[in-house]
Amino acid sequence: MATDHYPVMPQEAAEALSLEGAERVVDATFGGGGHARRILRELGPEGRVVGIDRDPEAAARAARLAEEDRRFTFRPGAYDEVLEGLVGEGERVDAVLFDLGLSSYQIDEAARGFSYVREGPLDMRMDPGRGESAADFLNGAEPAEIVGVLVRYGDVPRGEARRVVREVVRRRPLASTLELSEAVRAAVGWKERGGNPAKKVFQAVRVYVNDELGGLERALSAAERVLLPGGRLVAITFHSGEDRIVKRFISERAGRCVCPPELPVCICGARPIFRKGVVRKPSAREVGENPRSASARLRSAARTAEPLEADRLPRETS
Ligand SMILES: C[S@@+](CC[C@H](N)C(=O)[O-])C[C@H]1O[C@@H](n2cnc3c(N)ncnc32)[C@H](O)[C@@H]1O
Repeated sequence: MATDHYPVMPQEAAEALSLEGAERVVDATFGGGGHARRILRELGPEGRVVGIDRDPEAAARAARLAEEDRRFTFRPGAYDEVLEGLVGEGERVDAVLFDLGLSSYQIDEAARGFSYVREGPLDMRMDPGRGESAADFLNGAEPAEIVGVLVRYGDVPRGEARRVVREVVRRRPLASTLELSEAVRAAVGWKERGGNPAKKVFQAVRVYVNDELGGLERALSAAERVLLPGGRLVAITFHSGEDRIVKRFISERAGRCVCPPELPVCICGARPIFRKGVVRKPSAREVGENPRSASARLRSAARTAEPLEADRLPRETS
């Protein structure tokens, strides 16, 4: 049974978004709409929020919000593609929020196949109508490829990843989430400390199946083109792979500008596209109330008025 999703770091996100009444905001990961509703409360009657999500169930929740509040519209799809679409249409916005990963609706709904403790089909696609499922991947890929996925996207130590994959291959074809959990447990045992070893394996497979890191890189580069000068980029990440991408993106684009912050355009030659903003963690109280927030990191940046170099501008359409 799916439980409600509690938005992570809503107060910190609102502060970092630093919204004013008539601004236009993209909530790139609508989920259960917790952040979107909060953003709408911060905006005035002229403000606008565009929600994005590739999960059809999120789209149904978004349709209800669009009925309730005319300032909200929804675009279904992968956030990198929808943001590219907005850039292509000439839309420009004042803020973009990413609250990455899964919603509680997705984790707790056994039929989605994300849970390593609930029996369900081995699926793990955020958009079940697109791409290969976890079962397709685990039953069909070369063992070395699966080992690479566990190491890269789950930080599973290579020796452990090899043992897991040997067990997976021995048990193929796998059809359910618990068959995968059992294979992991048979391969590496139950760890007294550090929790269920299936957690990292599920994370790795999910990140791969949904191309989460590739999508995030493309989405950040679209976000820098859709943001107006002064526009804020805020991203909440939940694991090291996501966080590294956001941190590196902001650091690269921020350059090493030494101009005073009140100057709208860099004059020291560094030509930064973003100015680094705050980095926040959830409070101890939030972690106590919502343990899923424990690994969250919020990073933010503000778009400068620097024009983008030609290779990052949208291509001319003929
Ligand atoms: C952590 S939840 C967001 C929760 C939301 N902020 C709230 O307050 O309810 C992440 C959501 O982002 C969506 N998502 C993840 N990756 C996506 C992508 N590449 N494109 C579109 N939506 C994505 C997921 O389907 C999920 O609904």
